[in-house]
Amino acid sequence: MRNPQLNANGELTHLLTIEGLPREILTHILDTATSFISIAERDVKKVPLLRGKSVFNLFFESSTRTRTTFEIAAKRLSADVVNLNINTSSQSKGESLLDTIDNLAAMNADMFVVRHSQSGAAHMIARHLAPHFHVINAGDGRHAHPTQGLLDAYTIRHFKKDFRGLSVAIVGDILHSRVARSLIHALNTLGTTDLRAIGPQTLMPSGVEQLGIRVYHDMSEGLRNCDVIVMLRLQNERMRGPLLPSAQEFFKTFGLTPEKLALAKPDAIVMHPGPMNRGVEIDSSVADGPQAVILQQVTFGIAVRMAVMSIVASH
Ligand code: CP
Repeated sequence: MRNPQLNANGELTHLLTIEGLPREILTHILDTATSFISIAERDVKKVPLLRGKSVFNLFFESSTRTRTTFEIAAKRLSADVVNLNINTSSQSKGESLLDTIDNLAAMNADMFVVRHSQSGAAHMIARHLAPHFHVINAGDGRHAHPTQGLLDAYTIRHFKKDFRGLSVAIVGDILHSRVARSLIHALNTLGTTDLRAIGPQTLMPSGVEQLGIRVYHDMSEGLRNCDVIVMLRLQNERMRGPLLPSAQEFFKTFGLTPEKLALAKPDAIVMHPGPMNRGVEIDSSVADGPQAVILQQVTFGIAVRMAVMSIVASH
């Protein structure tokens, strides 16, 4: 079956998930992002690649980083950007998601950036729309957050140069994490073979090993000699019932402190997709410490989202 993100020529027209995308497409996105990094240093931070195009940001779930960096990225590409305020939209009067999309499409939208609590929402919208529209998944339920996975991969490549030979540990609430799934797919495709998931049994998806990642329940084993540590927050909003004794207990066992960080390689980098919960999954001294690249991830996110938008719009 054809990948629904690709056109008949195998070109990317939507970005819905990293799963199943070939290495060449991922590398092309990362290389294109590199070419956009320097735009932020110019007096006029704009290129005309999306001039005349309309990008609609539809965030049905809260966001700070993703929504804002998509807006900045679209504006740097010279697109017209519409941020629909979902709380004051006609969704509150019972309009269906697809009726909302049809109305926005009738306003000559070209691209939809969609975050939704339901897994598969972006796929459904892409299937529903005519082929000349582009849909970018900005996070759907616990399924996928492909631009986060790509900006994480970009950050790893920036600091570690090559994906091969790296040991990457993803720590915390893997069960509810679309970020973890997208990063695992990206790193598998890009050639990282030592992928480790660290967390309590209750926050580990069953069968996660089938994604090509080894499971650890002990930080001292899982972090040993790692090059990259990706910390995840506890996604309480997605938990059905208590999965942990307490946040304090979680911090004691899985929170990243300077002592636990010392188990990794001395030049290991610490990443976090945000939002961070200090004192729950990460100690402030680590979050603000010299090995943290958490704010660089945010900055790289602009260039990566520019790359994705310009690539899908070019096909
Ligand atoms: N990483 C991430 O998706 O953050 P936001 O929820 O703030 O967009």
